[in-house]
Amino acid sequence: MPLATIELTSRIGVGVRTDKAALLSGAHAAELRGLLERYGVVIARDIGFDDDEEMAFAATLGTLRQEFGHPIMKVTLDKRENPEFADYFVATNQWHMDGTHEDVPPLASILTPRVLAPWGGETEFANMYAAYEDLPDDQKAQLESIRIVHTKLASIAHTLDNPSEEDLDRLRNYGSKIHPAVWHHRSGRRSIVMSASADHVVGMDPAESAALIQWIKDWCEQRRYVYQHQWRMGDLLIWDNTGTTHRVCDYDHACGRRLHRVTLLGEERLAQAA
Ligand SMILES: [Fe+2]
Repeated sequence: MPLATIELTSRIGVGVRTDKAALLSGAHAAELRGLLERYGVVIARDIGFDDDEEMAFAATLGTLRQEFGHPIMKVTLDKRENPEFADYFVATNQWHMDGTHEDVPPLASILTPRVLAPWGGETEFANMYAAYEDLPDDQKAQLESIRIVHTKLASIAHTLDNPSEEDLDRLRNYGSKIHPAVWHHRSGRRSIVMSASADHVVGMDPAESAALIQWIKDWCEQRRYVYQHQWRMGDLLIWDNTGTTHRVCDYDHACGRRLHRVTLLGEERLAQAA
């Protein structure tokens, strides 16, 4: 029997009614992959996975990706929980796609909450398939014709308070990737590749490039493409990283908010040759 579903907004997000045992059985895996591709975000309430269950469930959907040696990434600003990467998550309040520094960005991620923020801390997702579909034809043609350089520095520049040249050099050395502005998916669908990591348009005058990147961001951030998830303990959230962009809303950085993320390996190459 198919899962009971409810659309969360008219353009993005679907809720499914199910339980832990059904999810872990893998019986709905193919259907969930289909919902993910169609709706961008899939949520289920009152599941309550622990780490092992979250990993086992993720493995029914795809291939688990080791994130810096760990299958579980603790998404938190609390350095006691994640000494290596807590600082990195400060930058995730900007709309971004994960893995734009790679040739093949992750397919999807699974998130479960462990400590809730007392206020704020919602996660927002925007549907980049819908944002592409709604573009006027001349804008579609323009975006189809450009390529964008993505860098680590661009994605975290807004968090740097008076960075030294040394810091900037280290970030510049992190490398860059050239991605098309429009992802032509194997499925035949197309989506805008929008991320804070977008640094400049290849071969374009810097001022014109900055204005175009800002235009793309403004277009993609329109509320009609956005689903805002308000976290409750027990939630399970899955998002399609290839066809959406995401960010966290403001919250008290000292509150210990923590989510556990498992990420699935990408299955389609995005990067283009330099
Ligand atoms: Fe992210």
